[in-house]
Amino acid sequence: HPGGSLYDRIGPPALEALVTRFYTYVAADPLLSPIFPDDLSETADKQLAFLTGFLGGPPLYHQRFGHPRLRARHLPFPITPERAQAWLSCMARALRDTPAIAPEDAAELHAALARVAVHMVNTPSQPA
Ligand code: HEM
Repeated sequence: HPGGSLYDRIGPPALEALVTRFYTYVAADPLLSPIFPDDLSETADKQLAFLTGFLGGPPLYHQRFGHPRLRARHLPFPITPERAQAWLSCMARALRDTPAIAPEDAAELHAALARVAVHMVNTPSQPA
């Protein structure tokens, strides 16, 4: 991997494009949209700050909001294994649809997020 952290390789403009695209897919997803606010601009803003630090850039989320405590912050929302899969599918699509991110960087980012996503599951599968 040439050139430092995943944040350095992806770069701020592509990361912002990714996050924006990701939340347009979340808003259109039947499993995810019910648990998200209608206006996703603040959510996207916080996610961009979080991912910036998570990928090795400046710790913007910590500076603005403190420790992320991600699992605790997600407890108010019923996150089933299906919702975690849906979230990761939206991210996979957003990565594919952001050509400024190289495929090997996209794969690395997706794998890192998948490891975090399993810890956000806090609710068993719901009967259909
Ligand atoms: C916030 C859902 C996974 C990072 C949220 C919110 C929901 C949500 C409903 C609140 C939105 C709001 O009120 O603005 C989910 C679901 C996931 C998931 C269904 C599936 C596993 C993740 C992962 C990460 C993450 C893997 C990080 C890598 C965040 C951050 C926030 C957030 C940083 C903002 C927290 C804050 O309010 O300060 N998520 N999330 N989420 N999520 Fe997730």
